[in-house]
Amino acid sequence: MSMHVDFFAGAAMRPHLPALARLRIAVFREWPYLYDGELNEEQVYLSDLARSPRGGMAVAFDGDEPVGCSTCLPLADTEAAVQAPFRAAGLDPARYFYFGESVLLPAWRGRGLGVEFFRRREEHARRSSDAGFACFCAVERPAGHPLRPAGAVPLNGFWQRRGYAHHPDLACTMRWKQVDSADKVANRLSFWIKPLGPRDGT
Ligand SMILES: CC(C)(COP(=O)(O)OP(=O)(O)OC[C@H]1O[C@@H](n2cnc3c(N)ncnc32)[C@H](O)[C@@H]1OP(=O)(O)O)[C@@H](O)C(=O)NCCC(=O)NCCS
Repeated sequence: MSMHVDFFAGAAMRPHLPALARLRIAVFREWPYLYDGELNEEQVYLSDLARSPRGGMAVAFDGDEPVGCSTCLPLADTEAAVQAPFRAAGLDPARYFYFGESVLLPAWRGRGLGVEFFRRREEHARRSSDAGFACFCAVERPAGHPLRPAGAVPLNGFWQRRGYAHHPDLACTMRWKQVDSADKVANRLSFWIKPLGPRDGT
């Protein structure tokens, strides 16, 4: 079957939100997110994305079947907790386009889809905004975490090769129930940032 990536913006994302919720629950259950997600919580999270007219979403399909998703929206349209470190550092959220999750089922990894997710989101950010930077955040886990799989390879190198620089002091807190916790726990996520560069015709 044919593998392909489509991009949906604004209201066109809505039909694909249930697939995104399913993929988030399946993929984020793994290390390092350890997210014990359920669909009601997902609706709350996804409503910010669905409300953002400049939000966008890449979906990888194998035939008709969604096997991966990757989202983005203006940082100013995200929940206050995500914007907070930028405001505290005197950085204007309007200058940033926020990249949410990339979630791809394991069997479809290593074929260039993750690279394509970045390319499509950066293209959307350049076209739909005058933001100077793309940013995303990633969870921090201690080196000795008991659930770290042997041989787990961090994505830091993958992100650096896409042009992103780590800003460990720029970090937000998000709470979620984990596979190893009875209740929600606070997690620190630090940001990675890349200049989006000049636009065509500018
Ligand atoms: C992050 C994630 C989406 C990356 O997806 P992926 O499709 O495996 O990544 P890619 O295949 O695009 O890139 C991996 C490497 O393979 C290379 N590659 C590109 N095209 C390729 C191809 N046709 N065949 C094989 N490898 C290829 C890429 O260049 C990259 O190497 P590089 O970093 O040295 O350049 C995936 O690992 C994932 O879902 N992880 C779990 C969730 C997660 O942690 N998400 C990130 C935080 S939200």
